[in-house]
Amino acid sequence: MSSDNIWTHKGTFLLAAVGSAVGLGNLWRFPYLVGEHGGGAFLLVYALCVFAIGVPILIAEIMLGRNSRRCPIMGMRFLTRCHKTSRAWEIIGWLGGVSALLILSFYSVISGWAIHYLGEMLTGSLRGADAATLASDFASLISSPIKLTLYHTLFLVICAYIVARGVHRGLESGLRLLMPTLLVILLVVLFYAAAAGDMLAASDFLLSFSLSDLSLEGWLVALGQSFFTLSLGMGAIMAYGAYMPSETSLTLTAFTVALIDTLVAILAGLAIFALVFGAGLSPDEGPGLMFVSLPLAFTAMPSGALIGAIFFVLVLGAAVSSAISLIEPVAAYLVERFSLSRVTAVLVVVGVAWALGLATVASFNLWAEQSPFHDLFGRSAFEVLELTTHITLPFCGLLIALFAGWSLTQTESMKEMHTRAGWLSLWRFLVRFIAPTGVAFVFLRALPYVEGYWLPAIVAIVTVGAFAAYRTLGEHEGHHGG
Ligand code: PHE
Repeated sequence: MSSDNIWTHKGTFLLAAVGSAVGLGNLWRFPYLVGEHGGGAFLLVYALCVFAIGVPILIAEIMLGRNSRRCPIMGMRFLTRCHKTSRAWEIIGWLGGVSALLILSFYSVISGWAIHYLGEMLTGSLRGADAATLASDFASLISSPIKLTLYHTLFLVICAYIVARGVHRGLESGLRLLMPTLLVILLVVLFYAAAAGDMLAASDFLLSFSLSDLSLEGWLVALGQSFFTLSLGMGAIMAYGAYMPSETSLTLTAFTVALIDTLVAILAGLAIFALVFGAGLSPDEGPGLMFVSLPLAFTAMPSGALIGAIFFVLVLGAAVSSAISLIEPVAAYLVERFSLSRVTAVLVVVGVAWALGLATVASFNLWAEQSPFHDLFGRSAFEVLELTTHITLPFCGLLIALFAGWSLTQTESMKEMHTRAGWLSLWRFLVRFIAPTGVAFVFLRALPYVEGYWLPAIVAIVTVGAFAAYRTLGEHEGHHGG
């Protein structure tokens, strides 16, 4: 890869990774999960998952990208050759690419809803609307395949435009404009929520520490969310890492990304619930919270339509900066492997995601009750896609941790991390043992026929232990042979 494909500024990787991480997962999913799973206690466990499992894998993923200086698929091919490991590890790149396309296809449809509400806020058509009107507005939006397809298309066109302009003129300039703007908007919405809403109830709801509400299930949800929110296990971070200057600190960057991501989630949660409680609404679950309750809260408040519009710009901006990180790894592959022009590559990626997205569009209307997906999997296309990525992200994260932990030598890791020996050893321990065991446990626990927690825990520990023993033996043989 030529050096034109290195971020111009030292801090751009941070902007890009934060842009990828902060998205619908923070603004909509996280607040609801915290409230549901024991408030402060969940937050504590979530923080543990983010920093003990998420951050080590984040470092590993950036390291693989920067070390190979290629897109995830070509990068893994390169690394398996350099390290004379099995070519099977290339699956990390392929799985990431497939997940990226799948996530992009439904992420874009849901983000399209934010375009709809932005329009509603700007035109003031929801002014004074009551709960029933808002619920029927939402229902009429999702029951219209035409509207959903239109917004889905519009969203992808915006993202494609940014990525097609290239690493510097597109991604870098776009992110440098978008990210600071989003921060300002988040603060505006937060101050508005503090003034017009019920911040006390919100902080009570989010931060009250009730250990008894924290089920074992809460741990699982926390781990799953930490993967999705940090954009781990699908090549986005690896692709961005390939453009990271060699001297930028991996550790500092990874911790900063995780810290900002968590902070944004908490601030967004405070703002959203302050508004929801201030309007006397209940913390509704699912899509309803952001797309029904929140607009309702806005319509009831002074200058609510304006702040509502600003809020949906925030949602949209955060979604765009996440979606471009889903396009980049696959587009970069098409450019590197088939020498396509960047514009063509982006068009191919976006075209495929657009077509796949039609299945999600139909899931809410034409295919809501009956579809080939229902026949095969007993659920809608959207649910199948979502579930698939819940499996592929942690699985790919597990492989990334194992590859970085066991195939890269201590010296190579040190060369990338240039850090203190103590932290390097701790990081290696985390990616070799702790992160894989944690992920394997969640993965096994999610299988429909596994009940309880002991069995998956034991199987996970034994599997990782066996893998470790196998690799250690392999290392010894390697020494003899070499
Ligand atoms: N991290 C994004 C969010 O929280 C979602 C995402 C997942 C983006 C995976 C890219 C890759 O909304």
